[in-house]
Amino acid sequence: MDLSLRPCLIAICTSLCFSTTTIAADMSATAINDRIKPIGNIHIEGTTPPIAAIATSSRTGQVIYDQYCASCHNNGLMGAPKKGDADDWATRMSQGDAVLAKHAIEGFNAMPAKGTCMDCSDDEIVATINYMIKPN
Ligand code: HEC
Repeated sequence: MDLSLRPCLIAICTSLCFSTTTIAADMSATAINDRIKPIGNIHIEGTTPPIAAIATSSRTGQVIYDQYCASCHNNGLMGAPKKGDADDWATRMSQGDAVLAKHAIEGFNAMPAKGTCMDCSDDEIVATINYMIKPN
């Protein structure tokens, strides 16, 4: 190699080397803490969680029944089939589970959609029907 090129190559290498160092390594405490922080945030008891807890557990049929359905289904209001009354439920159950569930979820005549429990999942409504039709 021509010796006159050497200083030039060294200069190029050195500048490349330093330039990448400045881009890659911000060594300030904040920058380092930011790089090594854990993924996600820590929730300390008593403080507001960063993301509202996702409701994972569903309510039981009994809890929903007592709160939303009892007012009509305890005494057969407007012809509502009474809880645990085998006679009231016999013909309705003969329609099949899918129809019963559909009527309860979408509403049926004087039966309001989801029995007014608008935040009930379909599974919760089905659990409630199972609770209602169980003989007393
Ligand atoms: C405002 C009164 C009212 C409330 C509240 C109510 N129901 Fe009803 N429900 C009725 C009436 C009335 C019927 C009968 C409708 C008909 O056969 O014409 C009925 C019928 C039903 C049926 C039978 C549907 C069919 O296909 O025969 C199911 C299942 C049912 N309700 C479930 C529920 C559940 C579950 C809840 C609570 C989450 C609830 N209901 C809340 C009035 C109510």
